Amino acid sequence: MCGIVGYIGNRNSQEVLIEGLKKLEYRGYDSAGVAVFTKNGLEVKKSVGRLANLESKLGDAPLEGTIGIGHTRWATHGKPSDANSHPHTDSSLKFSVVHNGIIENYATLKEELIANGHVFLSDTDTEVISHLIAVEYQGDIVKAVQKAVKRMRGAYALGVLTEHEPDRLVAVRNASPLIIGVGDGENFIGSDIPAILNYTRDVYILNDGEMAVLTRDGVELLTLEGNFISRELFHVDWDLVTAEKAGFDHFMLKEIYEQPKAYRDTMGARISEDGKRVVLPEVKMTEDEIKRISRIHIVACGTAYHAGLVGKTIIERLTGIPVETDVASEYRYRSPIITPDTLVIVVSQSGETADTLAALREAQRCGARVLAITNVVGSSVAREANSVITTWAGPEIAVASTKAYTTQLIGFYLFGLFLAQTLETQKPEYIAEVLSALQQLPTQVEAILEKAEDIKDIAEQAATHEDLFFIGRGIDYAVTLEGSLKLKEISYIHSEAYPSGELKHGTLALIEDGIPVIALATQDELLEKTVSNIKEVVARGGYIIGIGNEGDAELPRQVDRLFSIPRTLGLLTPALSVIPLQLLAYYAALARGNDVDKPRNLAKSVTVE
Ligand code: M6R
Repeated sequence: MCGIVGYIGNRNSQEVLIEGLKKLEYRGYDSAGVAVFTKNGLEVKKSVGRLANLESKLGDAPLEGTIGIGHTRWATHGKPSDANSHPHTDSSLKFSVVHNGIIENYATLKEELIANGHVFLSDTDTEVISHLIAVEYQGDIVKAVQKAVKRMRGAYALGVLTEHEPDRLVAVRNASPLIIGVGDGENFIGSDIPAILNYTRDVYILNDGEMAVLTRDGVELLTLEGNFISRELFHVDWDLVTAEKAGFDHFMLKEIYEQPKAYRDTMGARISEDGKRVVLPEVKMTEDEIKRISRIHIVACGTAYHAGLVGKTIIERLTGIPVETDVASEYRYRSPIITPDTLVIVVSQSGETADTLAALREAQRCGARVLAITNVVGSSVAREANSVITTWAGPEIAVASTKAYTTQLIGFYLFGLFLAQTLETQKPEYIAEVLSALQQLPTQVEAILEKAEDIKDIAEQAATHEDLFFIGRGIDYAVTLEGSLKLKEISYIHSEAYPSGELKHGTLALIEDGIPVIALATQDELLEKTVSNIKEVVARGGYIIGIGNEGDAELPRQVDRLFSIPRTLGLLTPALSVIPLQLLAYYAALARGNDVDKPRNLAKSVTVE
């Protein structure tokens, strides 16, 4: 996955491209590059490393021109290097391409092109595209792109320029996100809306198999067969400032502190005024259809998968419907049993994760209904699912997901309760009790955030270690998986999460003097057993950091350090207990001097399988 941007108008295109790429760096930051029409023709500048490297190259020798394309890369084919950076050109240097996605049959195409005398300068799959377009070009860049993409298999969002037609910018999409910004005398392409929001709020969202031809004066949308498409402009009404750091040192910290608001916004009008019912008109299923659901599959990746593990417990406890949670990249390949009575819930912050999208399509192909829990309105997942519960977390920029996870949990609580009230599997009084507890969560999160300094202290100590373990039982275990992922991804400390009772079946061998073990113990009915497991670790020299409920008498006696969270219903504790784990990861990464918002090797949105 990568970020692409393009501009045609009367401004200095280099500036517009760099601004856009800054907004897209969350999609990848191994290298960056731009191609601009200058008085010398199509000129390309690219640089391995962060965008700042490219900026300093351009600072020394700016590219003057009003049409250009740009790219920020997350390497798939070929290591990060100047040569592998986009834009890529053909042998004649007359065609230039930026690409987000993967061309699956690139090796065969490359072989064929080489046999015909083409010389390749990179190890990327993308370079074949510029060569293919050059081969197909017979005086019309639109037709050449149409012909070239028909030979390609895989995912692509492309921006294409040719020196032969310096007043046209062509964009095309298949299975990778692409939007077109429409301005006054200028037009834009971008992988995501923030890339162009400084210039226009009117956009077209391209669908798979569609292309756009941009000139200064207008935008034409076409099918790959060349038929015109008529589409309403989408007006973006959210503010870019909400995507800025707002005084915090890092986006991640800002996003952690935004969680009380994100909880409130996601619950919003979905709880009836009398606090007794969940109102979810976005679930497009009749009562009969809901009553026919015989099983639920939850499918997602990474942090969203961890939210799905909590979602399984929520739905099973509230409704009795059997739920399986799958990692999206595995789902299709395990031949899951999907019937028309299966409800598939896909969870995705970005709504663009390729594996999740593929699982969604597979589920629909097998006749299942798909409900999406996603944070991005207009994303591919949101557009293709049968129903969508939007998590109103606002833009999440840090690669490490925080507020998206917790609002996904809120989505599961609301949906679980909605099912329970429709299926009458819970008494109305109990539903009202859970809803009341849900509404207290934002204030309880605020109380946890006020104690962030305590976690900072624990994190600075933890940051001196190379290994760390998390243990928990039941729903706590699901949360420890998320805590462990967060710590690994930004602090680079090796950590593992285990069900507390499983430790003695092998992993206990790794516990040595002073190894930090974070024990999550928020479930009253499991506390005694967890305490036994804590004792097993203490006996081997482990250093226990306990996270439990305020007012617990036993846990403080068993641990070396304690962090308490406000009391809530057992089922709701994940929405609180994960907050100290997010802070732990943040402060540990900070103590190690890491780039918190842009951890190495990762990207925010993984749009390749
Ligand atoms: O956009 P998505 O929710 O579909 O993304 C899924 C994962 O790539 C994502 O949650 C990833 O694991 C995060 N970096 C974790 O913090």
